[in-house]
Amino acid sequence: MAVKKRTILITGASSGVGAALAEEFSGSNHRLVLLARNEKRLGAVADTCRSAGSEVVVRMLDVCDAEAVEACVAKLEQKFPVDMAIANAGIMESVDEPRTLEPVGMTMRQMHTNYGGAVNVAVAVASRMRTRRNGQIVLVASQAGLQPVADLPGYSASKAATISYGEALGNFLKPDGVVVTVVSPGFITTPMLDGYENFRPFEMSARDAARRIRKAAESRRRYVEFPFLLALVARLGRLLPAALRYYATRPFNFVK
Ligand SMILES: NC(=O)c1ccc[n+]([C@@H]2O[C@H](COP(=O)([O-])OP(=O)(O)OC[C@H]3O[C@@H](n4cnc5c(N)ncnc54)[C@H](OP(=O)(O)O)[C@@H]3O)[C@@H](O)[C@H]2O)c1
Repeated sequence: MAVKKRTILITGASSGVGAALAEEFSGSNHRLVLLARNEKRLGAVADTCRSAGSEVVVRMLDVCDAEAVEACVAKLEQKFPVDMAIANAGIMESVDEPRTLEPVGMTMRQMHTNYGGAVNVAVAVASRMRTRRNGQIVLVASQAGLQPVADLPGYSASKAATISYGEALGNFLKPDGVVVTVVSPGFITTPMLDGYENFRPFEMSARDAARRIRKAAESRRRYVEFPFLLALVARLGRLLPAALRYYATRPFNFVK
């Protein structure tokens, strides 16, 4: 008897963690829907997944465009209802010049992509999952959302918003049988960190991160934070008064 394939949608699948997630979920039991803007890089990831036995659907999509995300999910769902959606697409920008404030446009771009993009994807799939009373949404946030980083204010804020949104959405969808998993990783070696020279403790590979995300998602966990020690520092830091927290988390407050 043929096993029913699970459809797994991954945004930001053309690079880094998204590409590693696509490979991690590859196999004959999964149909992968890979989304990003760069056709060439996405095509290369899709080819790798197909050689590992996956059925792969590829779509060029800007997650900031809410209407395009809704239209993409609506069309896809006519054939392949989404079992799991991983909102992973993101950008991280920082200012190179010493002691220069992050411009408003840079902050807002990160909010629109990281937080706005995650919301666009989550809402598009959640409305359909609720009707089916089944499904899982995974939001890839960051530990920068737990412990803000001084030279990444827009990025940190976008991830804090994603964590809060994910928790609220998870509580809202619980009676509908839809699980929301909020993932807060630490530093991962991907193109996103190219040129970012600040403190990067416990950095891990994209493959390792993807493995942990898959494990947490398959256990239908509500939250996962890794690596453990970095998450512990962030969590303990939140218990301190702000003035003390500044000193206790000093390496993250370093600015050029
Ligand atoms: N690397 C880290 O240290 C780290 C740590 C914690 C959390 N994270 C989070 O992990 C996620 C993946 O990051 P990464 O490290 O893998 O970075 P990456 O290698 O730069 O990949 C980012 C991905 O997001 C896609 N993307 C960016 N803007 C998009 C848009 N508007 N619409 C659609 N896709 C878009 C990119 O594809 P296209 O350019 O082809 O569109 C690319 O596939 C992000 O949410 C990031 O914040 C990363």
